[in-house]
Amino acid sequence: MESPILQGKVKSVYDVPGEADKVSIVFHDKVTAWNGRAVEYPPEKGKICCLISAVIFQMLEKNGIKTHFLGTKGFDTMLCRKLTIVPVEVIVRNIAAGSIVKTTHLTEGTLIQPAIVEYFLKDDAKDDPLLTPDRVALMGINPEPMRDAALKINNHFQILFAQLGIDLVDFKLEFGHDSGQNLLLADELSPDSMRLWKEGTSESYDKDLFRKDKGDIVEAYNQILDKLNNLP
Ligand code: C5P
Repeated sequence: MESPILQGKVKSVYDVPGEADKVSIVFHDKVTAWNGRAVEYPPEKGKICCLISAVIFQMLEKNGIKTHFLGTKGFDTMLCRKLTIVPVEVIVRNIAAGSIVKTTHLTEGTLIQPAIVEYFLKDDAKDDPLLTPDRVALMGINPEPMRDAALKINNHFQILFAQLGIDLVDFKLEFGHDSGQNLLLADELSPDSMRLWKEGTSESYDKDLFRKDKGDIVEAYNQILDKLNNLP
């Protein structure tokens, strides 16, 4: 296979021969945490994250959210529009967990209503620091369209995950611009980039199982995929 145009921690991005405006994104059987300091290679994990992402991207597209998703190729590859990625990770929080608990006096499980949107620099070398909206603007990036899209996506996610008996704690989004400068949702939408708790509990079905060494992520992610596939 040709070499990737972009090598992420758990995904690789390839050009699509003859289609300059498209890329394929291959999901690997790999999980990382703490900025790559912890790594494992769980069999089937790439396929499961790809299939979960595909279902969720399709749901968003049906609801009028503009995304890079075009389809799947095989089980572990998404065909997507080629974008210039905005170097900011956008996080939506509905319940306090993770970094907001570490860096504030909020306790884990505190409801965050209305949901908040945060921005982090997408730069592993700098350990992805928290940004203010003013800093995002200073970087020449208008945070408002990303904030609006993130809150709309949160509304759709809330409806989706409530149907699965899951409380959506938080999630990370990435955005990019196509050649026409349209802002589209990019990256993946899987339990690698979300916190999903069994309704009414703090039982994780997401990457925290790996971060905290609390269980088998493949089994948990598969349960999410099954629930998505069995939606009425
Ligand atoms: O670590 P933190 O609590 O800020 O993460 C918030 C959410 O964003 C979590 O669901 C986490 O999995 C996700 N995230 C991510 N990629 C990052 C940072 C956070 O997917 N680089």
